[in-house]
Amino acid sequence: MNALVVFHSRHGATEEAAHAVGRGLAAAGHKAEVLPLASAPASLASYNLVVLGGPIYMGSWPKELLAWMACRKAELDLARLALFILGSLPEDHAAKLRSALGASEAESLLPRIEAVARFGGRLPTHGASLGERLIMRLVGSMSAREGIRPVQLDLAEAEAFGSSLGSSQGACPHTKIHA
Ligand SMILES: Cc1cc2nc3c(=O)[nH]c(=O)nc-3n(C[C@H](O)[C@H](O)[C@H](O)COP(=O)(O)O)c2cc1C
Repeated sequence: MNALVVFHSRHGATEEAAHAVGRGLAAAGHKAEVLPLASAPASLASYNLVVLGGPIYMGSWPKELLAWMACRKAELDLARLALFILGSLPEDHAAKLRSALGASEAESLLPRIEAVARFGGRLPTHGASLGERLIMRLVGSMSAREGIRPVQLDLAEAEAFGSSLGSSQGACPHTKIHA
């Protein structure tokens, strides 16, 4: 199988997760190309599987990825399709992503999505803007008050996701969206 993993990352955690997914696919015996959204290939015709990954910021998956899915939906409709999410808060990100997709121009792809995985998140320790630092401090103190623990990025889980996509044949289209 020829797989493409496309990611959008602000601070590098999603990029690391995307490479872990690629390693999992490679370990399952497949060719996997891992690219940032800005370098996504002009044609998707040679890929049997496309995996898209992005982080949650302020409750949303990157609008750039949703726009790309809408723009490339005719081609994405011909490949197996899976998504992954990074996010530090213990929320049902998959359900939110499903409704964001449902309200977007990529809505027709919803039944084509084979799996949605989440791998936790990693807050930036350097390079964050002033606004981001402020939000992290606010959310951090609110979470501490309410006893909410951040979910840490799990790269082994990302690799296992890649392997599982590489092991499933994808012969029958099905919708499996889980948190
Ligand atoms: C300003 C800011 C807002 C964030 N908002 C959310 C959020 O709403 N929900 C969540 O689960 N994680 C949130 N996070 C955590 C990010 O999803 C997490 O740090 C992720 O790993 C970042 O990925 P990246 O390094 O690829 O940009 C936020 C992080 C920052 C810095």
